Order: sequence, then C-alpha cells, then structure tokens
Amino acid sequence: MPSMYDELLRLKTVAGEELSAITQIGELEPFRVKYLGRKGEFTLVMRQLGQAPPEERPRLGQLANEIKQDLETAFAAQESRLAESGGATHATFDLTLPGRTVPFGKLHPVTQVMDAVCAIFEGLGFAVAEGPDVEVDFYNFEALNIPPHHPARAMHDTFYVSDSLLLRTHTSPMQARIMEKEPPPLRMIAPGKVYRCDSDITHTPMFHQVEGFLVDRHISFADLKGVLSVFITKMFAENTPIRFRPSFFPFTEPSAEVDIGCVICGGKGCRVCKNTGWLEILGAGMIDPEVFKKVGYDPEEYSGFAFGLGIERIAMLKYGITDIRLFYENDLRFLSQF
Ligand code: PHE
Repeated sequence: MPSMYDELLRLKTVAGEELSAITQIGELEPFRVKYLGRKGEFTLVMRQLGQAPPEERPRLGQLANEIKQDLETAFAAQESRLAESGGATHATFDLTLPGRTVPFGKLHPVTQVMDAVCAIFEGLGFAVAEGPDVEVDFYNFEALNIPPHHPARAMHDTFYVSDSLLLRTHTSPMQARIMEKEPPPLRMIAPGKVYRCDSDITHTPMFHQVEGFLVDRHISFADLKGVLSVFITKMFAENTPIRFRPSFFPFTEPSAEVDIGCVICGGKGCRVCKNTGWLEILGAGMIDPEVFKKVGYDPEEYSGFAFGLGIERIAMLKYGITDIRLFYENDLRFLSQF
C-alpha cells in the first residue's frame, strides 16, 4: 500500500494535469466535485490522516493543505480563463475557420408587393391614408350605397363584432371616411387588411387591399383607364394586355372589373386562367352620385373614380403562386424565396 505521502503527491500530479486539460466550462464542475468536493479525493485522503503515525501527522496535514490550496487557486484561474475566452481555451480557437453567417431577415412577399403597389400610386401623386380594421356598418356598407338588406351584403361574408360593428370586408369605407372630412380635389390610396369569412386555395379570411380614388371636376372613365393602365404596365410588364369588363358595385356606376392577359400562359389558356387567357386583378368604376350625396359632395359639380385591388392576388400572379394559404403558413422555405 502506497504511503499517504506518495498518495498526496500522486493526487497533486493527476489533478493538476486533468485541470489544465479542461477546455469547456461545463467540465469544471465535475472536476471540482471529483477532487475538491465533500466526497472528493482530497477529502478522502485527509480523513485517513488519523490513521497515520502521530509524529507524521503534522507534516502530512500541512502538505495536504498546501496541495489542496494550490489546486483551488489553479481551479479559480482556469475558471476565469475559460469564462473570458467564451468557453474554449486559445488552443481550440481555429482562426482559419470561416465565420458564422448571420441570416438576414426579409420583408414578407405580401409586404413587398404592398410597398411596390403603393410606390407606383405615390409616384402618380396619390397620398396614403389608413383606417380602422374594426369598422362601423355605416362606412363599410351604408355610406357606400349598400343599405340594410341589400343583396350585395350577402356577397361580403362579413365577420360581425356586434350589430353595428364588423371587420371591414373591403378598403372602400376609406372613401367615405376621407371624403366626409376633406373637400375635393382628392387623390388618395388606402392600403390595409380586410376580412371575409372564406377559406380555400384562392381565399384567406384576412387579406390585403389597396383602395384608390380620385375626385375633381371633369374626371371621366378615360382618367380611370389611364391611371390603371400605367399601374399595370409598371407592376407587370410594359406590354401586358389589359381589358375592362362591365361589372357591378353599388358604390360605382358604371363599374368594371379589370383583367390582364394571363401572366402564366401568356394568354394561350391554362389552369390558372381557367383557359380564358385572362386574369381578373381589380374592381373599379366611377364613384356613384349616391356616395357623393352621403358625404356632402355635389355630384353635379364633381366626379371621380375608385378602384380596389387585392394584394395577395397580385403577388400570386407576379410570382406564379397557386395557393394563397402559403402566404400565411410562416414556412421559411417558402418565404425566403422572395
Ligand atoms: N371594394 C370592392 C371589393 O372589395 C372593390 C372596388 C373598389 C370596386 C372600388 C370598385 C371601386 O370587391
């Protein structure tokens, strides 16, 4: 059996070597428990001190204390060295490794298209206004010539908050809100979220629209055509075919839906355009005199046009996306492509 003296010297060497080989902060605590803890190797040796011959005890005790104190000092030094170098000692820091890339965030494709649409209209002199998502029945319907029980209400699949409060089903209430406050001439766009109780590959219960309208003296349908043609050629391509198709909205007369030549098949006919060669991108028309009367404008003096376009729809056409729900699944594999 080795003498206690040899045992102490052995411990000193082994523990010292083990300590200096430590490179991770996480390895420190197991080391401390193993050598310096209450049941650690030093404690065990010191407990055996009583069995040593009485004349040797003071010398052995002093040696044990010295070794233990040295080890504790070395332990503290190693601990602060590791903390400073962020967990690894200089020996394991490889300067030749490439740095970690910091992933950049990107704007959501819907936000990107929304920004692009607004920028085009701002370039044409339209000012931007925003309004509430939770809207009163009056602005969403009545001010837009849709009285209670009007069949057009059925088209809107409205989420009601109470009898008179709802989630706006379109951005058109902004026409009434702005005209009620400001006299003509006006040239405004109103981007924002809208809500309809509807969900399938081309509908989500929340989507985005940009409303646009212009009111002044002598505004005609030709002005509407001009503004929308400029918008479409800037948003899609210079030679994009455009057609105006008669339609109906209670707040515009006459009304039109605007189609562009299918950007997927180039007009030949495909699944996306349902073989028509055309894709609907927005609703528009000349503001109905009834709307002017509700906001206190004189329809004999002023005329104007309005349009409303769906941002997700434009984004789908621009990027060839066939399922609208992809926009709202937060799948980074999809989102990082834009
Ligand atoms: N608000 C209509 C819709 O959501 C679009 C529209 C806006 C039509 C302005 C005409 C004028 O379908």
